[in-house]
Amino acid sequence: KHPNNSVARMKNVKMIELGRHRITPWYFSPYPEELCPVDCIYLCEFCLKYCKSSLCLGRHLTKCTLKHPPGNEIYRKDAISFFEIDGRQNKVYAQNLCLLAKLFLDHKMVDFDTDPFLFYVMTEFDLRGFHIVGYFSKEKISVEDYNLACLLTLPPYQRKGYGRLIIEFSYELSKYEGKTGTPEKPLSDLGLLSYRSFWAQAILEQLINQNQSAVEGVRPSTTINDICEQTAIKKDDVIYTLKRLNLVTYCRGQHIVCINQNAIEQHRTAMEKCKIRVDPACLQWSPKD
Ligand code: ACO
Ligand code: ZN
Repeated sequence: KHPNNSVARMKNVKMIELGRHRITPWYFSPYPEELCPVDCIYLCEFCLKYCKSSLCLGRHLTKCTLKHPPGNEIYRKDAISFFEIDGRQNKVYAQNLCLLAKLFLDHKMVDFDTDPFLFYVMTEFDLRGFHIVGYFSKEKISVEDYNLACLLTLPPYQRKGYGRLIIEFSYELSKYEGKTGTPEKPLSDLGLLSYRSFWAQAILEQLINQNQSAVEGVRPSTTINDICEQTAIKKDDVIYTLKRLNLVTYCRGQHIVCINQNAIEQHRTAMEKCKIRVDPACLQWSPKD
């Protein structure tokens, strides 16, 4: 993700068709110039190849055998799956995914060098195939502890909890790697809202669980390091969230975590809305070293 001048560039694609959806783009994306004057760009919903007409897409569909993203399906629960795609092994797919994503991401350039990234595509299954809902990308090696580079829920699927699910999934991978992680900065406005909401839920869930253990006499109190360890959320983000929720005091050079009834109630209400969760038992994955 680079601060760049594409922010100032005019929106160039009028409309895209992707499977059953017609979607109006939000921002500029560097699709080939000769494609942009057409009223609609037609995408193959499985390999993400772009075409200038439905006729052209029709021809492609007679040859394209994909019914899911390329790469390995590493998670499946009910209709939801995640596929892991290596940006080096599936370069064309990864580039097409970045082009599609850029239509909805303002603050970054499309990096055509997809080699350093893994892409995690979330799909919803029906009898016609595994339909892309959203994705996140992740650097194979990050010195800044980034566990997510870019995040997108396609507009027809937004505000249904999928963004939250994708974020939860990114932290689930970090747990398996045994490290804490944080999203690459800067975040978009919607990205920040989604992360704030997820961090609050994940941390409160952790605190409430620990608190229950405390009642049962297992553990006296929770430290910030405990929270980091259990949630895989990086320390700065944990402290930021605890402060935002008024759950921390600073005393003699130390942060003291203190939960209150009000926060517990708010958390219960928030979690009632949250229907889909990541089920760690459905993840078949081990980190590449
Ligand atoms: N208005 C207000 N709050 C919102 C909105 C919105 N339009 N969208 C999400 N939120 C907040 C809410 O708090 C919501 O929880 P709640 O409504 O249950 O309280 C929480 O975010 C998560 O909502 P989801 O439904 O899980 O998120 P969604 O599937 O809509 O995806 C996402 C969020 C990925 C940010 C989506 O809006 C998107 O793809 N936007 C365009 C691309 C983008 O900005 N990506 C993030 C860039 S930052 C980065 O990549 C590191
Ligand atoms: Zn195709």
